[in-house]
Formats: sequence, C-alpha cells, structure tokens
Amino acid sequence: MKQHKGFLTVLTIALLGLSLTVIAAPKGNWKKGRIYFRMVCTDCHVKEAGGKITPAEKTGAEWLDYFEKNLHGPQDVTAKYAASYFVSREYRESIKHTNRAAAKMLKIPDDQLLEDVKAFLVHTAKDSDQPSRCE
Ligand code: HEC
Repeated sequence: MKQHKGFLTVLTIALLGLSLTVIAAPKGNWKKGRIYFRMVCTDCHVKEAGGKITPAEKTGAEWLDYFEKNLHGPQDVTAKYAASYFVSREYRESIKHTNRAAAKMLKIPDDQLLEDVKAFLVHTAKDSDQPSRCE
C-alpha cells in the first residue's frame, strides 16, 4: 500500500508538470484576442495611458510573465486593476453600453478571453514572425 502511494505521488507530480506545460503555451483564439485588445484595451490606453501599447513592446515570454504576475500599471494599485480584471465579465458589463466589442463578447468566460488576448499578444510579440506596432 505504501509503495502504491509513492507511485500515485509520482504520477500526480508528472501530471501536474504536464498540465503546467500546456498552460504555458496560450491556446486561445488570437483573432478574438486581437479584436478585444484593439477595441477594449487600446481604446482605454489611447484615452488614459497617453497612447497605444503594442504587442511588439514585449517578447512572447515577457507577455506570459506579465499575465503570470497579473500586474497592470503602477504596482501599488488594488487587485481590481490587475491585467485579468480588464478581460473579466465584470469589466465588460461595466462598459457594455459604450463599447460594442465588450457588449458582443460579453458571454465569453473570463479565463477563455484571457487566453485569447494572451494568444494574440504572443502571436504578434516583438520576437514573433509578425510583430505588431499598430494596435
Ligand atoms: C480602463 C482603462 C484601461 C484598460 C481597459 C486597459 N488598460 Fe492597460 N493601461 C491603462 C493605463 C492608464 C496604463 C498606464 C499605467 C501607468 O501609468 O503605468 C496602462 C498600461 C498598460 C501596460 C503597460 C504598463 C504595465 O502595466 O506594464 C500594459 C502592458 C497594459 N496596460 C496592458 C493592458 C491589456 C492587455 C489590457 C486589456 C486586457 C489593458 N491594458 C486594458 C489603462 C487601461
């Protein structure tokens, strides 16, 4: 029985490792991510961050790290303003009357939309085949 447990532990660790590897590569739909990034993220950056923030500003690995840390803007802001908050349904609800993309994409689950945006940013990052500087 003891040996059996040891095997299960090894198996669990192996499976955990496997799932982490899968999470590391964004599997989202980058085309949806592009729409959301352009219509929602960029819309606010133009109005409030002094201009566009483009995918080519970071490498793919830097983007994944950015979302892993889940920071957004000044580091002392509250968790509400973490990067993932801006893809949340709560945020989409709050702007749906003034932002058509947010209204159209209202029903997409938070984690799926986050994967879509991540996929787009990695797809067009600084070290990608098609770095985008015009989002
Ligand atoms: C409601 C407005 C708003 C929305 C929506 C928004 N941002 Fe921002 N973002 C800002 C502001 C303001 C700054 C500049 C913050 C600062 O002074 O550092 C910023 C800065 C950034 C930066 C560069 C500074 C940093 O945090 O490293 C990145 C990257 C970023 N935003 C990504 C995103 C992404 C991705 C989304 C969409 C999922 C998004 N933002 C949505 C307002 C917004």
